[in-house]
Parts: sequence; structure tokens; C-alpha cells
Amino acid sequence: MAHPGVKDPFRAKAKKEGYSARSVYKLKEIQQRYHLLQTGALVADLGCHPGSWLQFCSQTVGPRGRVLGIDLKAPTAPGAANVAFLQADIRTLSREQLPPWARQVDVVLSDLAPNTTGVKWLDHERSLELARKALETARGILKPGGGFLVKIFQGEGFDPFRRDLETRFQRVALEKPRSSRSESREVYLIGLGYIKN
Ligand SMILES: C[S@@+](CC[C@H](N)C(=O)[O-])C[C@H]1O[C@@H](n2cnc3c(N)ncnc32)[C@H](O)[C@@H]1O
Repeated sequence: MAHPGVKDPFRAKAKKEGYSARSVYKLKEIQQRYHLLQTGALVADLGCHPGSWLQFCSQTVGPRGRVLGIDLKAPTAPGAANVAFLQADIRTLSREQLPPWARQVDVVLSDLAPNTTGVKWLDHERSLELARKALETARGILKPGGGFLVKIFQGEGFDPFRRDLETRFQRVALEKPRSSRSESREVYLIGLGYIKN
């Protein structure tokens, strides 16, 4: 949510550094800690508009890697040779819609977020639905050993979702990056070492 008139150092930094959104610093912080993205990696970025994660992924995976962004809305960030975009609703996305190279990826990222209403339980339910869809997508396309990052608004469905992740990844961690606004109920779950079964 925008906060007109309130000075936001991350927004100013994003503008200065040429990123399309302040959200990039959440991914950067998580990357510093967990090294999800490697040079040459294939990455799917769910909920990619306006595109700051695409920008960072593109730089990090380099020319031998590839990034597919998926969103209802096209990115506004400048494109790059190793970035592709698919306009789609994650709730109805099928594996066949993906370009062949994106059907087996090293990392799935999801910054998917519903339009918030301010009603906590409802926003949580909608976020949980998107997080579940992100996990379902990841299960269809992640290589064994792959990494997963998913945003979720906290609420009563959070613990069961985390327990589900714990059965599918060797390690699961929870992060609230410094650039995530303290009043926001969003947190990120990181799954490392995908166990395919
Ligand atoms: C917080 S923004 C992502 C910001 C992005 N990570 C960046 O750094 O620029 C969340 C995105 O989720 C997308 N989204 C929400 N519901 C979706 C759905 N059902 N299918 C695809 N994208 C969806 C929204 O359109 C929005 O662009």
C-alpha cells in the first residue's frame, strides 16, 4: 500500500538504482541469506508485475540463465534478453501454457498478492489461496533439490501451510525482510531442497 507523504527510503533507493519497485529489497535480503538464485539458473517469478524481481533475477542468473515472469499485468520494468513474460491468471494456469524450458526450473518465486480489502481474515484467505496455487505450480515444475520462495499474509491458515511445505522441502525458513513494512502482515517462507514425490 502506498503511503503518500511518508518518506520511504526503500522507494527512493529503488528509484535511484533503476528498479521498478521497492519490493526488490525483500528479494535481495532473502537472496543474501539463502542464495536461492545461482548463475545460469532457470527461474519462474509468479506475480511479477511491475518487474523489480525480474530485473534482479535477470542480473543474478546472468546470460546463461532464464527467467519467466507470470502475472495478470505486463511488467513495466525494461525487458532483458534472458526474461520472458506470460500474461496469465495463476489460478487457472496449466503447465502446457509454459514455454518448454520453464517446465523444469531451479527456482520458483511467488510475490503474488491479492488486492487487499483491509479485512484481515479475508485478505489472509485470498493470500493463502494464491500461496497454495504457487506451491501447486512449483510442484509441477520444480527440479528435485530446487528452491521456493512464497509470500503469505499471516493468519490462521499459515501454520498448516508451513507444515505442508515442511513435508516437501528439506529445509523451510520464515523471513520478514527489513524492507517489508512492519504494519503489513506479509511474511515469506523459503523452501530449500525440493523433495519430489
Ligand atoms: C506485490 S506485486 C509483485 C511485485 C513484484 N515482485 C515486483 O518486484 O515488481 C503482486 C502481483 O501479484 C499479481 N497477482 C495477483 N493475483 C494474481 C493472479 N491470480 N494471477 C497472476 N498474478 C496475480 C498482481 O497482479 C501483482 O502484480
